[in-house]
Amino acid sequence: MGSKVAAPSTASILLLLMVAVFATLSTTHAQLSTSFYKSSCPNAVNVITSAVNTAFNKRAASAAGVLRIHFHDCFVRGCDASVLIDSPSEKDARPNLSLQGFEVIDAAKTAIEKQCPGIVSCADITAMAAQLSVKKLSGGKFTWAVPLGRRDGLTSSAADTTGKLPPPTANVATLKSIFAAVGLTTEEMVTLSGAHSVGVASCGAIQNRLTTPPDATLDPTYAAALKQQCPAGSTNKVNLDLTTPTRLDEVYYKNLQARKGLMTSDQVLQEDPETQPMVAQHTNLAVFNSKFVAAMIKMGNIGVLTGTQGQIRLNCRKFNP
Ligand code: HEM
Repeated sequence: MGSKVAAPSTASILLLLMVAVFATLSTTHAQLSTSFYKSSCPNAVNVITSAVNTAFNKRAASAAGVLRIHFHDCFVRGCDASVLIDSPSEKDARPNLSLQGFEVIDAAKTAIEKQCPGIVSCADITAMAAQLSVKKLSGGKFTWAVPLGRRDGLTSSAADTTGKLPPPTANVATLKSIFAAVGLTTEEMVTLSGAHSVGVASCGAIQNRLTTPPDATLDPTYAAALKQQCPAGSTNKVNLDLTTPTRLDEVYYKNLQARKGLMTSDQVLQEDPETQPMVAQHTNLAVFNSKFVAAMIKMGNIGVLTGTQGQIRLNCRKFNP
């Protein structure tokens, strides 16, 4: 019997086309790689790790600072180090005025430029500093290998931040929509809010809650203590997590359940019917850990520049001449 080659069916042609499209899409999307500097600067990860940890040891508060810098970088024009450019720039926008920890990134950049000039981007250094911050603040429990290969953006303007960075007074609908706008889910918003398990906020960020009578969703004893720390017009700072302020852990979520979230944007996660069960899930440290690591990697992928886009800045505070 002679063999007969069947003509490809429409279905199989379609399938092949879909495979080809998917292959193209996945190569263009899988742009970052944990081994990106393997041949161009083999020591990059070690040099940056050592410089960042030295800077954290000089000033412990800078660890929470760089975690927030990475968030503010990624939500405005993607993770392209646009937030690092000195004024006039994104730094002039109100939510960025309280950013701190830039010296950590400068120290790492200076160290890496000595070894591998013009190779490692400020956006990658920022992502690595955020991972090292999380590792340190969680006592080594939360960690991951950072996908690398981001390039630095060519613009930075305060106007670009409008509507991109959530205010401390945000309601849950605003939080959901700001995160959705950068491709993050409501659950990822709840997970990433767990970063408020460390660091501080200015009294100004909670004035809206310290009214008479105080915000009904705020525990009265906690409200009284906050009023003492934040008299009217005060520029003091208060811990975001009243129980374990220097430890990245699940206690942030337990505080929310006890009406002891610091800012409106924290406490609303417990008040909303969609996010309340998510808060409950995150009170388990192992759940918070795995979800936080996954969400940080996803946040670090937002709008990245790769290939020949942008530039590799020589000084993270200035565009190259
Ligand atoms: C969900 C919406 C969010 C809002 C409304 C918000 C708002 C704020 C505000 C107002 C402060 C205090 C700034 C000050 O007055 O000094 C703060 C601090 C902080 N935020 Fe957020 N944030 C949000 C999400 C995030 C995310 C996603 C991260 C990181 C993954 C993050 C990390 C931090 C850290 C670490 C601090 C403490 C910074 C320090 O001690 O210097 N925040 N946030």
